Amino acid sequence: IFSQVVLAPADPILGLTDTFKADPRQDKVNLGVGIYKDEAGQTPVLQSVKKAEAILLEQEKTKNYLGIEGVQTYNRVVQELLFGEGSELVASGRAATAQAPGGTGALRIAAEFLLRNTPSRTIWVSNPTWANHQNIFETAGLTVKEFGYYNASAHDIDFDGMMTDLANAQAGDIILLHGCCHNPTGIDLTLAQWDLVANLCADKQLVPLFDFAYQGFGTGIEEDAAGLRLVASKVPELLVANSFSKNFGLYNERIGAVTVVAHNADEAVRAFSQVKRTIRANYSNPPAHGALIVSTILSDAALKALWVQELTEMRERIALMRTLFVQSLKDEGVTQDFSFISRQNGMFSFSGLNKSQVARLKDEFGVYIVGSGRISVAGMTKANMPAICKAIAQVV
Ligand code: LMR
Repeated sequence: IFSQVVLAPADPILGLTDTFKADPRQDKVNLGVGIYKDEAGQTPVLQSVKKAEAILLEQEKTKNYLGIEGVQTYNRVVQELLFGEGSELVASGRAATAQAPGGTGALRIAAEFLLRNTPSRTIWVSNPTWANHQNIFETAGLTVKEFGYYNASAHDIDFDGMMTDLANAQAGDIILLHGCCHNPTGIDLTLAQWDLVANLCADKQLVPLFDFAYQGFGTGIEEDAAGLRLVASKVPELLVANSFSKNFGLYNERIGAVTVVAHNADEAVRAFSQVKRTIRANYSNPPAHGALIVSTILSDAALKALWVQELTEMRERIALMRTLFVQSLKDEGVTQDFSFISRQNGMFSFSGLNKSQVARLKDEFGVYIVGSGRISVAGMTKANMPAICKAIAQVV
């Protein structure tokens, strides 16, 4: 039977990392995948994580199965991060959270839950969006439609295009929204725009599904949740798929969560029973380690303060790299205006470089960026910046 199987194309992001690893050049730079690097070009385990792991090593008494929904304290602290301490929505029992294997696992559970238990069949995603979104939703069985998001010539949001396209969405359609640090453009909605999107969802009975993978990488932990919280205050139902890969540096622990917000507590209980059923059918119940790390940190004031400090350092270093990137391009004699890069949020910069420029960067200079022109600013350092900018100067 395997003779019939055709070779799958390489993944646009993770496949690039495979090519990068096989590249023998010493001075190669991977600005493809979204992984934070420090000034030394390393991705070390956060100190707050190391401390939490030391506590766990000493105190953990069993490797018994978790419940289908995962670590319960973890699910509580996730809700606090998403909706804020003392949130009315959480207190009223409208939100139910299950641990999930990363943001991707959470998106997949959300999609399957919606497909099997609600009339929703269509999901709208921004054009462009994270390269894996379409893959996840189509594989789950949803129909994917796109709404405009990006004005390429202005390097800015195309909000009118977004609202015009979403006017065609039907009641029950799902709208995928990036909570903050839009991937790949780095351009987020303003609060006033979030308000208009929330009203549209409420009026047309659209179901927002938030992909929230970069909380704390935009402006701050609370500030980055402002759009989500505003929408949640205006619509009766929504879902959130969040990830701690980036903000806790727990990439390979695969730790995220899926949260369902229902009209009332009774509906939340029923919806959550089906979320658990979906999880059971996929991987039975989640692994413990990542969730225990996050809940240990967030339940301890000193560890939480350390984590906030480490997250702030990551955010500020990326912001510094943005400014340096724009300046270094100028220094290398690039006359094209790249100042828009310093206005973008999060790990990525949508550079506007085209496919052939991206290919030349890789082939001639060993600088790897995603085919869409997305550059991981989080992978830049003061040390690799000159080489990156020299290479870009050659291809533009
Ligand atoms: C990215 O966008 O680079 C990350 O989310 C990693 C991934 O899985 O694609």
